[in-house]
Amino acid sequence: MRSSRNALFALVLAACGNDAAPENASTCTTSTLTYQNFGAPFVLDWCRGCHSSALPDGMRQSAPLGVDFDDLDHLRAWSAEIETRVTGDQPSMPPAAGPSPEERAMLAEWIRCGAP
Ligand code: HEC
Repeated sequence: MRSSRNALFALVLAACGNDAAPENASTCTTSTLTYQNFGAPFVLDWCRGCHSSALPDGMRQSAPLGVDFDDLDHLRAWSAEIETRVTGDQPSMPPAAGPSPEERAMLAEWIRCGAP
């Protein structure tokens, strides 16, 4: 139905237009970041060495059991925590070294635009 589609679109725009976020509706309209071209390779490079359900207990370098970034559903479920840990003022993930500030900013954009 057209009206409910429009309502959903307005909701997405509202979410992207969050005052606290630098991203606004136009950033999300033009953002080219997707799970395929950004989210999946990002977590493969930086996170899944510890956060993967394929890793047996003892090989996770103490990453909490069940905190796995195997697929888009898992990433969306953890997106608020991921944004805080990776793109906040004092990033704590990954524990050592890690992505560049530009890559962290891209992660924030991808998450704030709904992790498409
Ligand atoms: C070297 C192993 C390692 C890597 C790589 C790593 N983590 Fe972690 N992660 C941990 C450990 C250990 C903890 C538990 C200690 C803590 O909370 O700081 C943790 C905790 C977390 C938590 C909190 C889970 C909770 O229960 O609240 C999140 C969210 C998280 N990591 C996200 C990430 C993301 C996103 C990446 C990639 C950018 C990443 N981690 C990379 C080891 C790792």
